[in-house]
Amino acid sequence: NTNPMQDNHGRGHNYLRISITEHCNLRCTYCMPAEGIALTPRAHLMTADEIVTIAKTFVKLGVTKIRLTGGEPLVRKDAKVIIEQLGKLGVELTLTTNGILVHEFIDTFKEAGITTLNVSIDSLQKDKFNQITRRNYFEKLIENLDLLEVNGFQVKLNVVVIKGFNDNEIIDFIEMTKDRNIQIRFIEFMPFDGNQWNKEKLVSYAEILSQVNTFYSEQNVERTQDKPNDTAKNHKIESYKGSFSVISSVTNPFCSTCNRIRLTADGKLKNCLFSNTETSLLDILRAGESIEPLIFQNIKSKHAMRGGMDDDAKFQNPLLFSQNRSMIKIGG
Ligand code: GTP
Ligand code: 5AD
Ligand code: SF4
Repeated sequence: NTNPMQDNHGRGHNYLRISITEHCNLRCTYCMPAEGIALTPRAHLMTADEIVTIAKTFVKLGVTKIRLTGGEPLVRKDAKVIIEQLGKLGVELTLTTNGILVHEFIDTFKEAGITTLNVSIDSLQKDKFNQITRRNYFEKLIENLDLLEVNGFQVKLNVVVIKGFNDNEIIDFIEMTKDRNIQIRFIEFMPFDGNQWNKEKLVSYAEILSQVNTFYSEQNVERTQDKPNDTAKNHKIESYKGSFSVISSVTNPFCSTCNRIRLTADGKLKNCLFSNTETSLLDILRAGESIEPLIFQNIKSKHAMRGGMDDDAKFQNPLLFSQNRSMIKIGG
């Protein structure tokens, strides 16, 4: 009696990430090419009903957690309807957002049973924040982070660390956790199509920890327990209310415990962040056929690690990573 969504490497999959739009109200440089991207025509994107139908199938097959992503999920016109409907499925529901529009969704989140949110913020300095996002929303984001806190949401802040850009803010971010029960997650910059990744821009888990250990002195930095299937290596500063972590996809991949599958806004199942083996569930759904066999098939073909780019030379090769989608079309 095996888990139907088990792959050939013994991993079960119970965490579905659904991208509900390719649009975003920001233009983060590490997420999309400067020239923008060709958006998928509306007719080829999942409708709210289709998203809910596909999600129900996954829940039936064993998914217990759904995360909505984008682009920016909250810019979608019918985002509220989607959140309301998915809230009824009885599984953990959450979102990754840039936070700019969350003030319009507080009640929707509560009614859908959402208690946690992951929010991106790459700088605490207005000029730098606006530079990396190529937009002017810093104050709105800061205001909305307070609003989420006041309303009792558990917030994790995602910080993509880029050498020479925001690696001098690591301590400033950690200081936010002194009196606030938030989790800061420093993310190693990962290679995707059009994001001008190169190794020189990477700030590794080891470098981040070494900065932290130097500033706080090692005995005050605690390595705390990770949750099962966590992407983050968790730490805290002794006596601080919040915590900080590092998501080390580049220097310490966590693929052996991966429980994630992804559904893109255009209805394709993607079994790994770094794999371009995609199966259209939407086409089959629209043809009136069962999507289940395709789900099993796609998951069975999942590589052990990073879409088959197990060695760093492959993983870091622009000719290979440019064959994947841009992050904005995956959703993280
Ligand atoms: P939790 O559900 O809270 O564990 O969050 P998460 O870390 O899975 O999601 P989030 O959308 O906040 O992503 C934070 C960072 O982790 C982003 O850079 C994602 O691209 C990255 N990430 C999320 N899932 C995976 C994964 O399966 N593999 C890798 N390598 N990175 C991932
Ligand atoms: N490397 C690491 N993280 C990234 N994100 C977007 N692009 C990258 C990248 N190239 C993060 C965003 C967001 C999450 C979904 O993924 O900051 O928090
Ligand atoms: Fe899972 Fe692929 Fe991420 Fe590894 S890189 S954790 S296999 S999604």
